[in-house]
Amino acid sequence: MDFNKFLKIGSDSGWFMCNFQVIMTIAAIVVTDLNNAIGKDNQLLCHLPADLKFFKSTTMGAPIIMGRKTYESIGRLLPGRRNLVITRNSDYRIEGAEIYHSLDAAIQNCTEEKIFIIGGSELFKQSLDKTDEIYRTLIDYKFDSADSFFPEIKNSEFEKQWEECHHSDEKNKYDYCFQHWVRRSDL
Ligand SMILES: NC(=O)c1ccc[n+]([C@@H]2O[C@H](COP(=O)([O-])OP(=O)(O)OC[C@H]3O[C@@H](n4cnc5c(N)ncnc54)[C@H](OP(=O)(O)O)[C@@H]3O)[C@@H](O)[C@H]2O)c1
Repeated sequence: MDFNKFLKIGSDSGWFMCNFQVIMTIAAIVVTDLNNAIGKDNQLLCHLPADLKFFKSTTMGAPIIMGRKTYESIGRLLPGRRNLVITRNSDYRIEGAEIYHSLDAAIQNCTEEKIFIIGGSELFKQSLDKTDEIYRTLIDYKFDSADSFFPEIKNSEFEKQWEECHHSDEKNKYDYCFQHWVRRSDL
């Protein structure tokens, strides 16, 4: 996504404004099951430590944007990252987090090269059209009665550029694959 920004440049003859273009990558990061399910009763579908580790290392240092319900489900700020929470409630406050009342307002207040939409379902649906990349952990399982879903990743819109699969182990109950999807530029 391109944003026009203005850079104030100092020189001997004073200050002048210079228009330049910033390329910001908007990434979504999500763990889904085989049906694109992501949650139930405002919780994740399962505890998968390998995915939590992948999430932490992938997002560390970057802004993370989340819906109010996801923030409350996590229940704390995630350290080492700007935490941006979206709500329609103008009285909502969280010490240490940035509160915005629209997704666009949150994005426009980021100047970093890469930002992450981390959920939940509502935020993923609203942001998919703006999303350049998707980091998806695909769990090789279909969970019953999930109530939150990631939108379909269409092969016509995104290309899977990388995948790394792992078998279940003593800590991770299910087989899973880390995937990196990138928006096709030839559309
Ligand atoms: N598997 C994963 O990777 C993953 C990741 C994250 C979350 N989840 C799961 O997803 C579920 C939660 O998803 P969800 O869809 O119910 O909730 P959500 O997207 O986390 O949050 C929805 C809330 O965000 C606010 N919001 C949404 N769009 C807005 C807009 N355009 N302007 C202003 N505020 C807006 C509203 O807050 P107010 O009601 O306060 O106005 C809305 O109720 C949980 O089960 C969670 O565990 C899964």
